[in-house]
Amino acid sequence: MDDKTLTIEFVRVTEHAAIASAKHVGRGDEKAADKAAVDSMRSSLDWIDIDGTIVIGEGERDQAPMLYIGEKVGTGKGQAVDIAVDPLEGTTICAQGGQNSISVMAIADHGHFLHAPDTYMDKIAVGPKAKGAIDLTLSPSKNLQRIAEALNRYVEDLTVVILNRERHQNLISEVRKSGARIKLIQDGDISGAIAAAKEDTGVDVLMGIGGAPEGVISAAALRCVGGDMQGRLTFRNEEEKERAKKMGIEDFDKIYSIDELASGDVIFAATGVTTGEYLPGVVFFPGGAKTSSVVMRSKTRTARYIEAIHYFDYKDIS
Ligand code: FBP
Repeated sequence: MDDKTLTIEFVRVTEHAAIASAKHVGRGDEKAADKAAVDSMRSSLDWIDIDGTIVIGEGERDQAPMLYIGEKVGTGKGQAVDIAVDPLEGTTICAQGGQNSISVMAIADHGHFLHAPDTYMDKIAVGPKAKGAIDLTLSPSKNLQRIAEALNRYVEDLTVVILNRERHQNLISEVRKSGARIKLIQDGDISGAIAAAKEDTGVDVLMGIGGAPEGVISAAALRCVGGDMQGRLTFRNEEEKERAKKMGIEDFDKIYSIDELASGDVIFAATGVTTGEYLPGVVFFPGGAKTSSVVMRSKTRTARYIEAIHYFDYKDIS
């Protein structure tokens, strides 16, 4: 991706989507919050001079009216890029007025994201200092030992972020037995993966099963900060396997490295919808809103934190 000016274009897209969905914070309507983010992201993308294709989006064409997998976005004039979007990551969080919902997208040159089906993925993610220490073929406790060694700490000093789900009961017991602390989150494992990769969050590793599309977006973010991640698709039934096959997945047991999930020069942009450890949420004031975003690039590892003030009288972001 040779046009670095695109980074600022992309962050505008997540800013607008975040403002659109933030209008629904705490109103209890997940669908409305998600739709507002999707509509906004779709229309902002069309202003950008790219020949973009959605590869991770709102689902397949027949289920998703917009930002469906394969949909073309942008003016069609610029370079060919693949785009992974999650216009509102943490729809339930947003609808309930909880913490850590974000609007997020990642961009790579054509063919550089895994075309992940809308199934689950078993994930492990860490920051730069533990790069190379993770291995999904090993048990969670073995991984924690290796991560602790890499960080020059005791397992007891580590905090593992895990989605609070019934399916994680065994994982939670094993992590507790190993002596590590756990931070259970209700939703939003992209934020969880990023938190694990950043040093000042108090979280050292993300473990457990979450959405596969979110796995690809997390990998893109972690590539930009030098973190590490592995993922293995998990399937609940034959129908999910069929869907995966249709998207070109042949080996159902394959463990994907971070570079197989997101390779090449990757840009990642996110804007906070509701406040979390990673980004403050949208703050409305009479006539406008303040947004907090990050945009990062894997090639240079530059991370720009952008606070923007938007005046609704001067620009239409409805
Ligand atoms: P949505 O924003 O689509 O609701 O996803 C939230 C999320 O928590 C993701 O972060 C995570 O990967 C996935 O859902 C986990 O799925 P499930 O809620 O089915 O366990």
